[in-house]
Amino acid sequence: MSTRFVNGFSKFDKSEKTDWLTQNFTDDPHEAQQLLQRFACPDAEQQRILDGFSENTLTNFPMPFGIAPNFIINGNTYAVPMVIEESSVVAAASAAAKFWSRYGGFKTTILGTEKVGQVHFRWRGNIAKLRALLPHLERHLRAETADLTERMEARGGGILGMELLDFTAEEPDYYQLRVRFDTRDSMGANFINSVLERFGAVLRDYVCDQPGFTEDECELQVLMCILSNYTPECTVRAEVRVRLEDLKNVGELEAREFADRIATAVRIARIDPYRAVTHNKGIYNGVDAVVLATGNDFRAIEAAGHAYAARDGRYRSLSYCTVEDGEFRMWLDLPLALGTVGGLTKLHPLAKLSLDVLGNPGAEELMQIVAAVGLAQNFAAVRSLVTTGIQRGHMKMHLQNILNHLGATAEQTTAATEYFAERTVSHGAVRAFLAEEVAAARK
Ligand code: MEV
Repeated sequence: MSTRFVNGFSKFDKSEKTDWLTQNFTDDPHEAQQLLQRFACPDAEQQRILDGFSENTLTNFPMPFGIAPNFIINGNTYAVPMVIEESSVVAAASAAAKFWSRYGGFKTTILGTEKVGQVHFRWRGNIAKLRALLPHLERHLRAETADLTERMEARGGGILGMELLDFTAEEPDYYQLRVRFDTRDSMGANFINSVLERFGAVLRDYVCDQPGFTEDECELQVLMCILSNYTPECTVRAEVRVRLEDLKNVGELEAREFADRIATAVRIARIDPYRAVTHNKGIYNGVDAVVLATGNDFRAIEAAGHAYAARDGRYRSLSYCTVEDGEFRMWLDLPLALGTVGGLTKLHPLAKLSLDVLGNPGAEELMQIVAAVGLAQNFAAVRSLVTTGIQRGHMKMHLQNILNHLGATAEQTTAATEYFAERTVSHGAVRAFLAEEVAAARK
């Protein structure tokens, strides 16, 4: 068997893993090992913490940790930590935050905080019988999970309610117990999943104890117990508004024309899924960056958001914009199941710092901050698109990246920035420019 196939990899220690990987999968094992080593934390204790988050960890993969200052949200000023690898995102968020600070900043409202968990089961019986028992079953399930829910209830959360759903028209014998939870400041995945798994076991026993149930009805097969990452009842609204007479002209555009262009662009993203996906991607540029910086699960947040964007059957923009009665208004409704306790939030040293920088918010406040950043990012992207075009901002960063890559000096960078201000940036063009600069300097 090839040495590229391995058994028991997870049992190797870190240096054995590194040796095996670099020897079998890289051209220069020594160089690769040095690289892996370079990105490991110099502080062994910190590295041990990071290693513990995942499996088979060899080193760390650094991402830029930046700050978007001047976010005024409900009258409070935040400097928002963002972790993102894409150029222009933090700059755009900062610019939009500053823009809206002149008009009172962002207003945000929590629309709901409910999360959902599901026990999926197979059962062959008369559902009316089980339905009739639901109030009793609910009391029983609550009693049997009291030890798990006690602390959450003390924090004001817990199980909110449950319903029995019949899917047998689509899948034979398939039913679901759908449970609603409030998990307060925690994202709540562990709590919800523990409660659901206990529910599954209790449900199985419950049906065998029911007098009047047939032999078939005493058998219930639990298939899956898991939270749902779709959280349409755990949502937040962020909005900005300004009277047109107060709105200053934007670049060469008069305020009214600018407002109309933005509103039209947002309407287009509500009509056409091809545009809507890109539009929403721009929102998640901001959302994910803060979600990552605060140690939350960006995959869950994105999955929920995209499903929410399609909730009426067509994928649409998550944001809205109107120009009515002399007022420009733009807003965004987002499902955001976030936590500020538990998970990585306090374990990851930089997530902990991010939360500190944000004033150690509870989950609801963090939802509001994240939604405001999403809206800012969306506004900034659409503003560029309907005014200068997106490439101008991107090209500035692109130019800096190419100059860094080609090892340009500070003087060459200044000259190149000036030269390319009105010209198209490409790797070849920058290389040619630098070659000419070098030739000119030699003369
Ligand atoms: C790029 O990362 C995001 C944008 O494409 C978003 C948009 O088109 O609205 C600029």
